[in-house]
Amino acid sequence: MSQLESFAGKLAAVTGGGSGMGRELVRQLAAQGCSVAACDWHPGAVAETASLARAEAGPGLRPRQGRGLRHGVLVTSHACDVSDEAQVLRFRDELLAGHASDHVDLVFANAGIGGGASFVNDSREEWERTFAVDWWGVYYCARAFLPLLIASGDGVLVNTSSVNGMWAALGPGTPNTAYSAAKFAVRGFTEALIEDLRTNAPQVRVAVVMPGHVGTDIIGNTFRAHGKEPEQMTEAQLKELIPARARAGLAAAGLLPGDASAEDLRRMLIRVSNDFRDKAPLSAAQAATVILDGVRSGAWRILVGRDARTIDERLRANPEAAYDYAELFRGVRAP
Ligand SMILES: NC(=O)c1ccc[n+]([C@@H]2O[C@H](COP(=O)([O-])OP(=O)(O)OC[C@H]3O[C@@H](n4cnc5c(N)ncnc54)[C@H](O)[C@@H]3O)[C@@H](O)[C@H]2O)c1
Repeated sequence: MSQLESFAGKLAAVTGGGSGMGRELVRQLAAQGCSVAACDWHPGAVAETASLARAEAGPGLRPRQGRGLRHGVLVTSHACDVSDEAQVLRFRDELLAGHASDHVDLVFANAGIGGGASFVNDSREEWERTFAVDWWGVYYCARAFLPLLIASGDGVLVNTSSVNGMWAALGPGTPNTAYSAAKFAVRGFTEALIEDLRTNAPQVRVAVVMPGHVGTDIIGNTFRAHGKEPEQMTEAQLKELIPARARAGLAAAGLLPGDASAEDLRRMLIRVSNDFRDKAPLSAAQAATVILDGVRSGAWRILVGRDARTIDERLRANPEAAYDYAELFRGVRAP
């Protein structure tokens, strides 16, 4: 796979740029002299990312229509729900007009949410919403942007999957069906594109990103995406979200009092979301650096974090043990 010397003077599209790894990708790309069009379904959040990135932007040679180069980094922000193809096409058109370009050099299909954890218990609506963002969002971006990556003459499509794109679990008692199904699809699609592009569009390469635990607001943003913000949920909704059996399990694990009230549940959800962000082994900024280093090096497979590398090694060494957690992680020290 070919290497990339520098991001300076390139033009990148980043989805889900309003938070977490997407925001940090936008900031680091701009700091390295790359112009960026970032989208998010929360326009205020992605506009904030763009102003942070502009303030930190490095010198760049900005590409424009007809391939001339212009000095300066341009960062634009766009409202777009990636699960809606018409909005993805609109984002593409706004990008081309705003950056006066006829091509795009890099596409980071990063937007994603959790949810639809249990196929058995969760609503079909939530399951399909999660799958639509995590799979169709990536697919629509590839459809919309591939011709522009081809037109770049040196394009890179970077699709974010997850460790759940190789391991469809989060551990005992924690199903993760919609997210894993979508992330496996993203990995399979991206890997399948390797030969397709090599054969039919060798001026474009692809990379699949598989992060382990990265400290972002993905849990809070997932609650928000499904209309389940703990701060606003009623007692009935909280008890439906965490049914009696799950409450008993959480109480046994010392995470809830035995007779948990609705307020205890609400506080626990907020704590879990904050701890996921604040107690992660890797920050969103560190993860973005790993992703950009991987893209620059020409890697097609970018594992983010020691946990992701451990899961990858363990699955390869003992695939039959994938869902026998004690066996899979035998001898692995907790971080
Ligand atoms: N954080 C982790 O531990 C982790 C691990 C593995 C994979 N990932 C993946 O990394 C990617 C980035 O996640 P993050 O942790 O930075 O999360 P995040 O919630 O901090 O950022 C995701 C951004 O995507 C946006 N978004 C969600 N749905 C969208 C839609 N339909 N259209 C447009 N924008 C949308 C959100 O508003 C948010 O700004 C996701 O694909 C996620 O599944 C995250």
